Formats: sequence, structure tokens, C-alpha cells
Amino acid sequence: MQQIYPDATMVGVDLSPYFLAIAAYNTNQKSSHNPPTWVHAPAEATGLPDHSFDLVSLCLVCHELPQEATRNIFEEARRLLRPNGHLAVMDMNPKSEVFAKMPPYILTLLKSTEPYLDQYFTLDLVETFKSAGFHTPTIVCNSPRHHTAIAKVNG
Ligand SMILES: C[S@@+](CC[C@H](N)C(=O)[O-])C[C@H]1O[C@@H](n2cnc3c(N)ncnc32)[C@H](O)[C@@H]1O
Repeated sequence: MQQIYPDATMVGVDLSPYFLAIAAYNTNQKSSHNPPTWVHAPAEATGLPDHSFDLVSLCLVCHELPQEATRNIFEEARRLLRPNGHLAVMDMNPKSEVFAKMPPYILTLLKSTEPYLDQYFTLDLVETFKSAGFHTPTIVCNSPRHHTAIAKVNG
């Protein structure tokens, strides 16, 4: 993200101090003139100011979550975004043929490390965007197993 938008002020949020340490290490290695700030917080309640961002990006987070947490995070994203801001969500694509064709024992193995996968696969993503105050998202596949959904704030 920072390579694409080198002049943007970026804030990264994660619940895991371990992931934040890795992120800080990686960004320091790149010696950017404008490194991101890393915040240890739940994405449902970041503590960041209202209407202070143009883009909120959730990368590979929602498949880890119960549906209620995803809904709360989308509402928090709506609070953080300025008018015309966007929410982008990159994650596993429940409609991917890779999952449809996966042998049941592999899927069971996957679920043993991803306990909320059933909730994620049955989440109505479009409805979750709309009820949190976004327009209908555009959804594109970005790998055989992943998709990205992007929507602008509504109003
Ligand atoms: C599969 S990792 C993806 C990490 C990173 N976003 C990336 O793309 O490399 C999922 C991350 O979601 C974080 N996470 C899970 N639930 C969260 C929550 N409620 N708030 C913030 N971060 C959360 C985990 O700590 C973990 O770092």
C-alpha cells in the first residue's frame, strides 16, 4: 500500500503485538520517508478519530472472525471514513472453485486452524457492506482463491 501511495499517511491496526512487531520491522527495513504508524487495537474499536481516512483496507482479516465482529468492523470503518471514502476487503473467495473441489478432509484440516470459516463462508458480504452504510461493493477475483470487494461510503 505504501509503495502505491508513498505520500499517504498510513495507520496499520492489528490485535496481535507479534504481527505489529513484524510489520514495524518490515517497514523500517524499507526506510520509507513516511513510515506507517502501528496501532495495537481491535479493528472494531480503533480509537482513531471520526472521518479521518480516505481508505480503510482489511486484508485477510474477515475469514478469522465471527460474523458479528465483521459487521462491527465495517461499522467502525464507516465511522473512520471521510465523505467519498472507500472500504476495501481482500480475503478468501467463498465462491472459489478451489474450495468447492477441495477434498472434505483437507477442508476439515483447514477449519481446524480457521475456526470461523463456516461463519465467513456464509456471510452475506454485499448486505454487510450495505447495512454498515456503504454502496453495493464491486467484487473482483485477485487470485484463484481470493477476491477483493470495494465500496464507497453511502451519503
Ligand atoms: C491472516 S492475518 C493477516 C495479517 C495482515 N493483515 C496481512 O495481510 O498480512 C490476520 C490478522 O488479523 C488480525 N485480527 C484478527 N482479529 C482482529 C481484530 N478483531 N482486530 C484487529 N486485528 C485482528 C490477527 O491478529 C492477524 O494479524
